[in-house]
Amino acid sequence: PTRIRTLHLRQFKEQGRRFAMLTTYDAMTAGIFDEAGVEVLLVGDSAANVMMGRESTLPITTDELLVFAKSVVAGARRALVVADLPFGTYEASPQQAVETAVRFMKEAGVHAVKVEGDAELAPHIRAMVSAGIPVIGHVGFTPQSEHALGGYRVQGRGDAAQKVLTDARAMEEAGAFAVLAEMIPADVMALLDADLKVPTIGIGAGAAATGQVLVWQDMLGLGEGRTPRFVKRYADLRQVMTEAVSSYRQEVLEGAFPGEEHSF
Ligand code: KIV
Ligand code: NA
Repeated sequence: PTRIRTLHLRQFKEQGRRFAMLTTYDAMTAGIFDEAGVEVLLVGDSAANVMMGRESTLPITTDELLVFAKSVVAGARRALVVADLPFGTYEASPQQAVETAVRFMKEAGVHAVKVEGDAELAPHIRAMVSAGIPVIGHVGFTPQSEHALGGYRVQGRGDAAQKVLTDARAMEEAGAFAVLAEMIPADVMALLDADLKVPTIGIGAGAAATGQVLVWQDMLGLGEGRTPRFVKRYADLRQVMTEAVSSYRQEVLEGAFPGEEHSF
């Protein structure tokens, strides 16, 4: 299959087509999602939450996320693979951003990176793009800034809408090939997508974006407890797995597994 390129995402927007993005952190799920046709795979720093059991995305290191990224690249044949740059590995300077992004491109083989921030990140994005690294800018609610933003809350309501638009425009001008917006009102996303030439990607941002993204464990129902309002559960893998594992254990206890057909 022909590899999806950043250029194709731009063409999708121009043609009024949408695309799907999904997080993934390992080769097997990357292969499944790729085969299902998902255009963009995101090795999100949400790996800190869903893979490592941490409370936030802040603690994950470059070395840790690189392992996940390498695994996804190995499992993806057609999808564009994007990796997050972890908190604290790019904000200090454009040079720091280039150095970290180069590690993801070179050591993991991802095709692009994503950074969270606002207009102040434009020089960092420009430096990475100059170095040949395609970049997605992540605006609106940015989980790495959870403590500065005062928790998980919708951004860009009322007068704050203008800041989201300004931040996104600055990222586009700096050379970002797409802008991802998290938890902003649907009508602000509509303005944003109309304002930018590059494709937009939404999560908790309504249906007007060029593409949508979700965390795979959320959308396949693997996690326990409540999921955010913007998540739709397309399956209940937690129940499927719990039932299967209980059956296995039961059969082991009863001596029903392994059967003759599983024995030598
Ligand atoms: O890390 C992540 O999973 C993300 C997406 C949810 C946008 O950044
Ligand atoms: Na992320």
